[in-house]
Amino acid sequence: MSFIDNLIANVIRADIRSLGAYAVPDASGFIKLDAMENPYELPDDLRAELGRRLADAVLNRYPLGAYATLKEKVRGTLGVPEGYDVLLGNGSDELIQIIATTVASQERRAAILAPVPAFVMYARSAQFAGLDFVGVKLNHDFSLDMEAMLAAIALHQPAVVFLAYPNNPTGNLFAVEDIETILQAVGEKGIVVVDEAYQPFARASFMDRLAEFENLVVMRTVSKLGLAGIRLGYMAAAPQLLAEFEKVRPPYNVNVLTQVAAEFVLEHVDVLDAQAERINAERELLSAELAALPGVEVFPSKANFISLRVPDAAAVCEKLLCGKVLIKNLSKMHGMLANCIRVTVSTPEENSAFLQGLRAALRPDA
Ligand SMILES: Cc1ncc(COP(=O)(O)O)c(C=O)c1O
Repeated sequence: MSFIDNLIANVIRADIRSLGAYAVPDASGFIKLDAMENPYELPDDLRAELGRRLADAVLNRYPLGAYATLKEKVRGTLGVPEGYDVLLGNGSDELIQIIATTVASQERRAAILAPVPAFVMYARSAQFAGLDFVGVKLNHDFSLDMEAMLAAIALHQPAVVFLAYPNNPTGNLFAVEDIETILQAVGEKGIVVVDEAYQPFARASFMDRLAEFENLVVMRTVSKLGLAGIRLGYMAAAPQLLAEFEKVRPPYNVNVLTQVAAEFVLEHVDVLDAQAERINAERELLSAELAALPGVEVFPSKANFISLRVPDAAAVCEKLLCGKVLIKNLSKMHGMLANCIRVTVSTPEENSAFLQGLRAALRPDA
């Protein structure tokens, strides 16, 4: 073995060595429908004004670590209740990592629990932090299997339960009563993170329930709202709890350009909200068109993506790829998702291109 191979064998954790990196395909020249991005950009006048604001950003200094102005804008525009602060992250991916790094169990190896299939970063962040990950299978209709959830909570006493609301990759909202039951069952032994990444589309939230549940953390991102490029996530929770997570947050994790851009765009959040409305309307149209295709099972979605089952997901993805349309094959993610694909809802033109490509891929002679 070479020096570098030996070095890696000596110092890199075995579980990391055997892991693949989070794959992000090169999408240049493709219709990109694999990452739940908002296809719309800001109108020209706002872009011009944003350019002026960014030109004034103070790049030679570190950001002001308290992020007071940005936090105030987030709290004021995005519905954080009075008396609750937010913690900002470089995307909610970083917040998930901060949560995983901060928790422990006083009695046993701590566990993070989530219904599966779930957003992949829950399990990865648990692993990186040296915690167990407990995945509890969803019911066949993708609702929470409450009997299994409660049994797993009693057995593993997870330090954290992640519930994506709506869930990625299934797109559905879990029942409010089920989430309430989980918050109560976990009690003071664990934190329940309601991950509302797709809240701009679902328009359902636990944000106004924070006072009722002291173990509730509501996590969100501006990524799906139309600002994936700036990388900004936030979470709201009881101030004492946030203060603990704050100790783990890297001091300048949100950069000055993100700060300036977010402060500006949040002054015009109505523009992004209107885009989300358009996407919701498109989701309903696209779902109906997909449901009419022979051999296709469409799962109801409250997010800006649709998951569906097709006769042969690998062949469909391959054919769409040849037509320069990039979607996500979910088949390998979980046994429940065999032959499932996920597509981001986009502009009418891009949705049509996807539909056309899918129809062609599904033809028996294709
Ligand atoms: C449920 C869920 N949470 C969090 C994220 C991460 O979002 P961010 O772009 O803020 O890191 C995603 C991204 O797809 C997601 O689906």
